[in-house]
Amino acid sequence: MTQLDLAFTRAQFPAFSEPSLAGQAFFENAGGSYPCRPVVDRLARFYRERKVQPYAPYAVSELAGAEMDEARSRLAAIMGVEGDEVSFGPSTSTNTYVLAQAFRGWLKPGDAIIVTNQDHEANSGVWRRLAADGIRVLEWRIDPETGHLPLEALPGLLDQGARLVCFPHCSNVVAEINPVADIVALAHAAGAVTCVDGVSYAPHGLPDVAGLGADIYLFSAYKTYGPHQGIMVIRRSLGMALPNQGHYFNADSLYKRFTPAGPDHAQIAACAGIADYLDGCYSHHFAGGATPVERGRAVHDLMRAAEVACAQPLLDYLAARNDLRLIGPRRAQGRAPTVAVVLDRAAEPVARALAAHGINCGGGDFYAVRPLKALGVDLEQGVLRMSFVHYTSAGEVARLIAALDLVLQTPA
Ligand SMILES: Cc1ncc(COP(=O)(O)O)c(C=O)c1O
Repeated sequence: MTQLDLAFTRAQFPAFSEPSLAGQAFFENAGGSYPCRPVVDRLARFYRERKVQPYAPYAVSELAGAEMDEARSRLAAIMGVEGDEVSFGPSTSTNTYVLAQAFRGWLKPGDAIIVTNQDHEANSGVWRRLAADGIRVLEWRIDPETGHLPLEALPGLLDQGARLVCFPHCSNVVAEINPVADIVALAHAAGAVTCVDGVSYAPHGLPDVAGLGADIYLFSAYKTYGPHQGIMVIRRSLGMALPNQGHYFNADSLYKRFTPAGPDHAQIAACAGIADYLDGCYSHHFAGGATPVERGRAVHDLMRAAEVACAQPLLDYLAARNDLRLIGPRRAQGRAPTVAVVLDRAAEPVARALAAHGINCGGGDFYAVRPLKALGVDLEQGVLRMSFVHYTSAGEVARLIAALDLVLQTPA
């Protein structure tokens, strides 16, 4: 099987040749990844050459609009959906906020929705607030030991009249990859639609959203090598059925229905750089033509294989320590390399101590307050989270392990 060319990959990210970052190993990718070069270049070009109101009939404006359309259509193609099924908002939290307003008008009092206690608050709180409108909010709960979201508990919840199921592709602290296609199939069979938070998954390889079957799939471009944007796929049948949240005269345009604010033109255009990067990865590693979905799948598998190989030694090391609790699966295959541990002390000072060794990671609750509470974690202490993606090297992981050895040997 083709393996990821790490030297090529890292050359696509300006941060790795930035002198001020030399010697720093970056392990807070789940907070926000490094942007790839095509994104940085496109953003700079837009501000330099194209920063005008787009879609007007003069050359520079047409270029600006075309670049925004390009971002939407190329990312859509990789995910197997139509261009206007992709829309942009300031962040995923803002996108779910707007979506919840739309569902508020679509659901009827007495209808039920399902939320989990595995989600980041962005895909949880806004939905729970619908209870104020007479919506029954059912909680799909994780195992308090492992953080696992048990599929077998879902049918019983769906049977209670659920019309919407909100869940994460993987949590930003548990990191276990949930069986999205199976969950969606169960939901659809029960007549419910699905809203999947893919924020913690998409950086590990953009998924084939059409293949997964999700009605709504959300992710954050700034954690997926791009600028600070939230990206949402809303499939047409649901998007046109939900009440329009944009200007009334734009209601026929699916990608404008859930973006009430004027969009950030430059950042949307720069998102085409994510597609450039993924396509560039494909051409570097594989020969021959392929559809965008096939290219996306091949690059996804390449990235996943690289990060799984890097993650396993870290998971083995952490699982063998008896002074900490590793959250989520011990096998790298079934999880994202977003590795949270509960320590015998507060996490944030440990992150600070690691920084002195050139290891950049974070400690706290990462807005995953509900899952951490359900796991019995003391929120004052929080968790230490070490998260990486495919561009992380085995050498950096070895440095992380060596630094943990040093920092954790001092008594709590
Ligand atoms: C799993 C997950 N969902 C949602 C969000 C919220 O994304 P945004 O910062 O784009 O609002 C985050 C942010 O950390 C996250 O990790």
